Amino acid sequence: VRRIGILTSGGDSPGMNAAIRAVTKVGLNSGLEVFGIYNGYKGMVEGYIEPMTRETIREIVNRGGTILGSARLPEFKDEEVRRKAIHQLSKRGIEAVVVIGGDGSYRGALSLTEMGINCIGLPGTIDNDITCTDFTIGFHTALETVVDAIDKLRDTSNSHHRCSIVEVMGNRCGDLALWSGIASGADMIVTSETGFDENDVLDRLRDLDIIRKKKHAIVVISEKITDVDQFAKKVTLNTGFSGRATVLGHIQRGGSPCPYDRMLASQMGEKAVDLLMQGIGGHCVCIRDNKIVSYPIEKALSMPAESRKPLQNLFERLV
Ligand code: F6P
Repeated sequence: VRRIGILTSGGDSPGMNAAIRAVTKVGLNSGLEVFGIYNGYKGMVEGYIEPMTRETIREIVNRGGTILGSARLPEFKDEEVRRKAIHQLSKRGIEAVVVIGGDGSYRGALSLTEMGINCIGLPGTIDNDITCTDFTIGFHTALETVVDAIDKLRDTSNSHHRCSIVEVMGNRCGDLALWSGIASGADMIVTSETGFDENDVLDRLRDLDIIRKKKHAIVVISEKITDVDQFAKKVTLNTGFSGRATVLGHIQRGGSPCPYDRMLASQMGEKAVDLLMQGIGGHCVCIRDNKIVSYPIEKALSMPAESRKPLQNLFERLV
């Protein structure tokens, strides 16, 4: 392989730039030509593709977002659309591509590999919802952002005998809620794994107020579970706390990546280039038990989700 491309796809995550930098530097230092494909698969189809140089990636290791831009392109499922993309790559002699994104982006990478373009997936998402890897690039930075926000909410909530209901992202994966809830000393964590029993949460809040005499309470809840503004009103009506909802939203996706994410991105970027140079495609890079490894995408996507039971149990023992 002589020419490789790189793209970021799906929701951006802090550390994507560090991954772009690693792929580009390791690629150039290995004698490859590296091309940046802008705006994910959309740019691949449209031919928005430019050479990556040392200048392109200067001063980006600490920057959030992605200098290549990102997009979601559901149409990429369509073989005709992928043919157009492959035509754009072939015109430029690009034989292989590193795709940084979530599981949707991995499916695109697998289909392209089956059509003759070797692709390697890197897990770029704050959600930590790619089951084959212990951590995704961006998760730890988002976790820091969430914990920092909850620490601040704790101050004000404590001054006013309030219950802060904090909605965090995760796209149906409870890791951000679970990890941030434990790290910030939350009173309750609600995720798709724990389920949401509204009356049970209200009961437990009354308990915290009346029996435990707590000055305030913090409930961390994953997005897409309930309308947190409505729920905050119910807290006010049914418990001694006054309920306030905070939806952290896209703040969780921004910011300078923490050192862990920069390291993970750099190690994974290196691995991706090495795999492509060995002629391997259709794999994704993971960190498992602190080792950088790779799995065939097909196998990775069908792996059962790691049990979150131990952390949930820990949380129950900390309340
Ligand atoms: O996958 C990352 C993520 O931020 C999810 O946590 C969230 O559900 C979704 O993307 C939001 O998507 P959008 O940025 O398109 O609103």
